[in-house]
Order: sequence, then C-alpha cells, then structure tokens
Amino acid sequence: MKDVSVGICGLGTVGGGTFNVLTRNAALIAGRAGCNIRITRVASRRNRDDIDLGGVAFSTEIFDVVNDPAVDVVVELIGGYDTARELVLTAIANGKHVVTANKALIAVHGNEIFAAAEKAGVVVAYEAGVAGGIPVMKAIREGLAGNRIDWIAGIINGTGNYILTEMRAGRAFADVLKEAQDLGYAEADPTFDVEGIDAAHKLTILASAGFGVPLQFEKAFTEGISSITPYDIAHAEQLGYRIKHLGIARRRDEGIELRVHPTLVPQSHLIAQVDGVLNAVLVDGDAVGQTMYYGPGAGDEATASAVIADIVDVARIVASGSSLRVPHLGFAPDALEKLDV
Ligand code: HSE
Repeated sequence: MKDVSVGICGLGTVGGGTFNVLTRNAALIAGRAGCNIRITRVASRRNRDDIDLGGVAFSTEIFDVVNDPAVDVVVELIGGYDTARELVLTAIANGKHVVTANKALIAVHGNEIFAAAEKAGVVVAYEAGVAGGIPVMKAIREGLAGNRIDWIAGIINGTGNYILTEMRAGRAFADVLKEAQDLGYAEADPTFDVEGIDAAHKLTILASAGFGVPLQFEKAFTEGISSITPYDIAHAEQLGYRIKHLGIARRRDEGIELRVHPTLVPQSHLIAQVDGVLNAVLVDGDAVGQTMYYGPGAGDEATASAVIADIVDVARIVASGSSLRVPHLGFAPDALEKLDV
C-alpha cells in the first residue's frame, strides 16, 4: 500500500483528538482508505510536551507544515480567520490538499480559498466544520446528489444547545457555558457560540453546498441565545413548546434566506428531543423528502471523526494519483449566482 503523508497544524481539542484517533485506528483506517495515512509532521503555536507524539516531527512554527515538501495533506486545526487563511492559501500554492474544521474560515474566506484550490488542482475539504461528527456535508454532496434541496434547518451549535438543555433543568447560563468551555465544546471566543455567529458560519456552508451558491455569510440574519431567560424557557414549556436555537436556510423565489435565531419548536417534534451537545440537521430534498442527521456536534474525538473522513477521501485521491476532484459547489456557479440572498 502507498503511504500518504499528513501534516497537522494545531494541537488543541480537535488537533489532539485527530492525532489520537488517527494513531489508534491507523490499521483500520488504512484498510478503508486503501493506503497508509502517516502523520509525518505536527505543529502547534505553543509547546505540547504533555502530548506523546510517538516521535512525529514537532514544531512551534505552523508554516513548517505547509512548507514541508514531504507533506501531501495539510490539516488546518488552528481556527480563526487571518493566520488560518494565510496558512491554507500557502498550502494550496504549494500544491497541497487541505482538510480543515474551520467553519469561520470557510464561511468568510471560502470563495477565495475554493477559487485558489480549483486553480491549483487541489481539494479543500471541511466536513468537520459543520455539525461536528455528523457527516452531513457528505450526505448533502453525495447521498442527496440527485435532489433539488429546498430547505435545510437544524441545531448546529452544540454549546448553545447544551446551555439551553441545562437551563431547562434549572442551571444558570454562565455556569453551563463555563462547563461547555471546560469540556472543549465552546469556541475560543464563546460569544461566537452564544451570539449565533458559529451557527451562522455553519448555515452559510450548508446553504452553499445544498443550493450550489457561493458562500454569503454577511447576508445571514444572526441572533443568539444570550438573552434567553429561565422565564422564557419555562413559559415555552408550559405552552407545549421548547426553545431551540435553529439555523434555517430556504430557497425562495427572491433568493436564499439564511437565518439563525432561537425558535419555538413543538415539544413533539424530533428536533425538540435533541438535547445536550448533540446537533441535528433536517434536509428537504424534492426526491427523497425530509431526512435528518443527528449526532455529537462538538468535542475532540467526535470532530476528529469528521476530520479523518475528509483525510481518507483526500488520501484516496493522492494514493490513486487520480485527478478526481471533490467539487466545492454542487453546481456550475455561473448558473446559480442569481440565487443571491
Ligand atoms: N463551538 C462549536 C459548537 C464547536 O459548540 O458547536 C463545534 O463546531
């Protein structure tokens, strides 16, 4: 079997989880990928003496990974906008495929990054950016490839859902947020979770893949859960509803509607039963009808599961020497530019 060389940038929650799962399940993953996926270089901006890297080359200079000629696939797990953008564009310019869990990066700079990737003939994969471990991007891109998708809706921020769930049990917002941070669910800046920004990033990405339109994060209506009180939650329950923070993307005659906000969901609806850090995404396709994807929306190894799914996809392309590309948009963008928000 051929070897495919992977370099990981970032050893935080998701980076550490990815390193551990790739190492632990190496033989199993190789069998599925049809090649050996070898982590040959890891970089993190701070020293990580606490992690046993089993002799893999380590550096505190993250650009060492993208500039290493031996690395085939760069895994960007540093998060954030600017340095991550520079890192990914440099990797692409160096002819490397990229796997990222960075939804902020893709939602805001994705159009530029995808154009650069198309030009360079490399893949940028981002399954882990949306709904943690749930393979929903793959479902939209592959499983529902025959459908015209009319709407997508769901719980796409695990931290927010965890907070709302625990508040229903009487706990205070700030205590639960602190716990979500300690568990590694929250963003580096948790206002992204509680003000709906993270959910808007993910919704932008879902809509782009589902409707075949460019990423339009700036057009999303964004409201978070920071103003929800225990009183709101109790009253909603009394009326037979549950407050859930939803992302909703809908194809309309005027264009694409993108919105994230707290929503009253009937308690009998499946979405109302999705508690804790779990996410759920409903997708309506004209052929299949409604399908729902459910599972852990955050966490180290849950998110690593999605990162590794992308690494396997890309490694198969590298190992086969094929020019097969995963299209970043499901359709010819020119034909669908008119579906602006
Ligand atoms: N902070 C994010 C969440 C992490 O809570 O959903 C996963 O994207």
